[in-house]
Amino acid sequence: MATRRIVTLPGDGIGPEVMRPAEVVLAALGDFAFDERMIGGVSIDAHGIALTDEVLEACRRSEAVLLAAVGGPRWDTTDPAAPRPEQGLLGLRKGLELFANLRPVRPSPALIDASPLRPERIAGTDLLVVRELTGGIYFGDSGRRATADGEGEEAWDTCLYSTPEIERIAEVAFRFARRKVTSVDKANVLESSRLWRKTVERVAAGYPEMPLEHLLVDNAAMQLVARPSDFDVIVTENLFGDILSDEAAMITGSIGLLPSASVGAGGPGLFEPVHGSAPDIAGSGRANPLAMFGSVAMMLRYGLDMEPEAARLESAIDGALEAGLRTPDLGGGAGTEEATRAILERL
Ligand code: IPM
Ligand code: MG
Repeated sequence: MATRRIVTLPGDGIGPEVMRPAEVVLAALGDFAFDERMIGGVSIDAHGIALTDEVLEACRRSEAVLLAAVGGPRWDTTDPAAPRPEQGLLGLRKGLELFANLRPVRPSPALIDASPLRPERIAGTDLLVVRELTGGIYFGDSGRRATADGEGEEAWDTCLYSTPEIERIAEVAFRFARRKVTSVDKANVLESSRLWRKTVERVAAGYPEMPLEHLLVDNAAMQLVARPSDFDVIVTENLFGDILSDEAAMITGSIGLLPSASVGAGGPGLFEPVHGSAPDIAGSGRANPLAMFGSVAMMLRYGLDMEPEAARLESAIDGALEAGLRTPDLGGGAGTEEATRAILERL
């Protein structure tokens, strides 16, 4: 089979420490060529911006993009003019038109006790957050200015959604749904949510056999911990999806386990762990690489059409956890290297 061309973006903090193992694992599964590029803080230091046109172009020409993490206290700023690492991620999502972010939450049976929720609550949980990723308040008009009385400042962010943007994400949700679709909005307050709800209902009419329910986002936050196993596909707008997917991640016991895929209109997809750059543990060798490996599996499945390899990697991850592998975020002592070895042995 031809060599598959991957752009790797290690980024900041623990990013490079989990990207290296990802390349090792991929090399054990097939023939891959890695084109490593800069994003986030490292790119700001080198080029003054978090994502250069050249890197975006390299991503466009690749078959898939694997990203580790961006950001860190070094680049934290409240100055609106200063570059921020997160702009690299947002630029990549927009530049590659990755409007659908898929975040599966399926607690490994071996880790049922690692969850802050009681085992009987989470047993059977297998849900997918489908988060809209290129619209809403993340990309709407925003600004800051002096108040009219000149006494202080005011700032605004706008949440705008068009019908086609809502339709295409709702379509993704229905295509992935197995039992039902839960659409999350704030239709009791927000106009954009009322358009969201109406549009999702219209899309649902094309899937008469698939149940659709609506939840207000505050209630959804509550139900997610009260009865997580009731959910199948949760579809929601960008900001709500950002918040609910972190909450859902914790059901598994650690955000260090959660992979994600961002896909769009047919170009290369972006695959990345949900966790951040964890600057507090960077360089200590303690980073959990399993979310990264899970993201590699999603890349194999959704980005490269390599389902058998994806399944092999996922069962190696489950097998290692069942055999007792525990990284520090799960209360154990296994470092990045030991965790990587445990997976490689099972491939
Ligand atoms: C995520 C992250 C990003 C987001 C940040 C880093 C910009 O929290 O992927 O969930 O808010 O989308
Ligand atoms: Mg987030």
